[in-house]
Amino acid sequence: MSTYQAHFRIWRGDPGGGELTDYTVEVHDGEVVLDIVHRLQATQAPDLAVRWNCKAGKCGSCSAEINGRPRLMCMTRMSVFARDEVVTVTPMRAFPVVRDLVTDVSFNYVKAREIPAFVPPAGLGPGEYRMRQEDVDRSQEFRKCIECFLCQDTCHVVRDHEENKEAFAGPRFLMRVAELDMHPLDAAEEAGLDRRRTAQEEHGLGYCNITKCCTEVCPESIRITDNALIPLKERVVDRKYDPLVWLGKTIRRRKA
Ligand code: SF4
Ligand code: SF4
Ligand code: FES
Repeated sequence: MSTYQAHFRIWRGDPGGGELTDYTVEVHDGEVVLDIVHRLQATQAPDLAVRWNCKAGKCGSCSAEINGRPRLMCMTRMSVFARDEVVTVTPMRAFPVVRDLVTDVSFNYVKAREIPAFVPPAGLGPGEYRMRQEDVDRSQEFRKCIECFLCQDTCHVVRDHEENKEAFAGPRFLMRVAELDMHPLDAAEEAGLDRRRTAQEEHGLGYCNITKCCTEVCPESIRITDNALIPLKERVVDRKYDPLVWLGKTIRRRKA
């Protein structure tokens, strides 16, 4: 087994401020960035705060920015860096710092609560739902989300714009709206809930200019932009500008 000394630079601080601190630390073959952070805690910086849980890329806890790129620390192998490269680890920039590498991600839970849940279809009981396999596969992709919030952290709409947070749910939650809107059994419309209108007017879909940065950082390789956001935008436009929809609405208005 080969070992070497790596140069790490880690942001240390709290909501009052902080700075990058330099460490020289041993690295062994096959290790990931989270292993090195743990070694630092064990040997040099016992008070270094870091959030993690599974060390398997599945809990979504260890999100941070490594050399400026939003990544999971437990899924970033040390072998992707040159041995003499400085590895800089900073907390996610879009969320307030709690301490060191730990951020307060409660913005995301607020947004999650704002998305109305699946509306069960009337007259069907548990076990009676039937869907085509292609509809199942479509939403299955979005269900792989581990809620690491790296996509939320990356999105330029909120990354440096705290003022947009109130009006914008972010890619993870617009993807949830898209999933529900394309769900063949969701009875939102019958219940008087227009998911396409709320996507645009309440969850800020119009802020997204489909740059695909969210897709690029997703550790689950979910095609957030191509498979959720763009189709949702297309359906919003269809609803607004489709001449048949317009005619139907006009007739309904006249009848009323
Ligand atoms: S595609 Fe949209 S949601 Fe994704 S990062 Fe770009 S602006 Fe944000
Ligand atoms: S969509 Fe991908 S990047 Fe965004 S929270 Fe889910 S797993 Fe993380
Ligand atoms: S520790 Fe669970 S995703 Fe990294």
